[in-house]
Amino acid sequence: MNAIKNNLETFKQELKVALELATSPTQLEEVRIAFLGRNGRIATIMSVIKDLSAEDKRTFGPELNACKVWAELAFQEKKETLIKQEILRDTMRKQLFDVTSYKPQTLTGKLHIYTQIIQELEDIFISMGYDIVDGPEVETDYYNFQALNIPADHPARDMQDTFWLDTPGMLLRTQTSPAQIHAMEKRELPLAIFSPGRVYRCEATDASHDFMFTQAEGLFIDKKVSIANLMATAQQFLQKFFDRKDLAIRVRPGYFPFVEPGLEIDGSCPFCVAGCSICKKTGWIELLGAGLVHPNVLRYCGIDPEKYSGFAFGTGLERLAMIKHGINDIRLFHSSKIDFLDQF
Ligand code: DAH
Repeated sequence: MNAIKNNLETFKQELKVALELATSPTQLEEVRIAFLGRNGRIATIMSVIKDLSAEDKRTFGPELNACKVWAELAFQEKKETLIKQEILRDTMRKQLFDVTSYKPQTLTGKLHIYTQIIQELEDIFISMGYDIVDGPEVETDYYNFQALNIPADHPARDMQDTFWLDTPGMLLRTQTSPAQIHAMEKRELPLAIFSPGRVYRCEATDASHDFMFTQAEGLFIDKKVSIANLMATAQQFLQKFFDRKDLAIRVRPGYFPFVEPGLEIDGSCPFCVAGCSICKKTGWIELLGAGLVHPNVLRYCGIDPEKYSGFAFGTGLERLAMIKHGINDIRLFHSSKIDFLDQF
């Protein structure tokens, strides 16, 4: 009968150790199956009862039962301890969680490079007293060509391949210069307007040409306006845009039917001292088309060229942005490529 007693003792010791070592609900369940399960150690011990004599049953029965009750209690206690520990760990985890260290990896919105450049230019011209005006992208032959001193048979029309619409005489504007005509027709003199917007040309695309791009037109009309005013304005604008106080300009003759004389205005390369790839080692970059408004254009708009004069200039916004930011393909602007747009 000592064997039964020893068995019970060993069982208790081993269960104690096993419970001690169990640190998770899974491990605890394994202990339960091994010791208290239907085929576990306690069942084996209990099974000897049926083979005992009536007297031994009286002696050992209660002891065996007490052992079983003890084992179940010990198990229950351990189970509750584990639950409490888990609750404590969970509370600690929540307390130690630093909400400020969480950085969401979401994309942030940005203004499109077009909008940024337009706003930058508008700010510069507003600071110089110009009004910002908008013009229609669908134009008539009159506003896009004739009133700009480009009659129907004029060879300059070939310079600007045109998207003609099905409606006769209607087109997608090839330049923002028609904004000049609208302004002179509608506004009181003197006037100073700046008009950025989209233009269209029916031509093959490559890294520096696109069928749709953005231009801006500037116009200043008053009494005694001269080329000196134009040059001062152009230099001021380019110095601000490229953020270079030492940016110089130079003018070369150019031909645009709506100005006389017509000029090409170059800016000294903002990036180099002695020639780089952007200025093709010349130190100068072509930036604006400009000139004094042609008397015919003033007359078309009912302005007397004897009393008033003015200057006009035009520029390509993508070109300005490409030079400023080192962009090498004009088609990227409306490509919707996030990697490209995200840089600005
Ligand atoms: N509209 C011209 C173009 O698309 C640019 C231009 C040149 C505008 C001279 C002007 C100007 O106002 O005076 O090429």
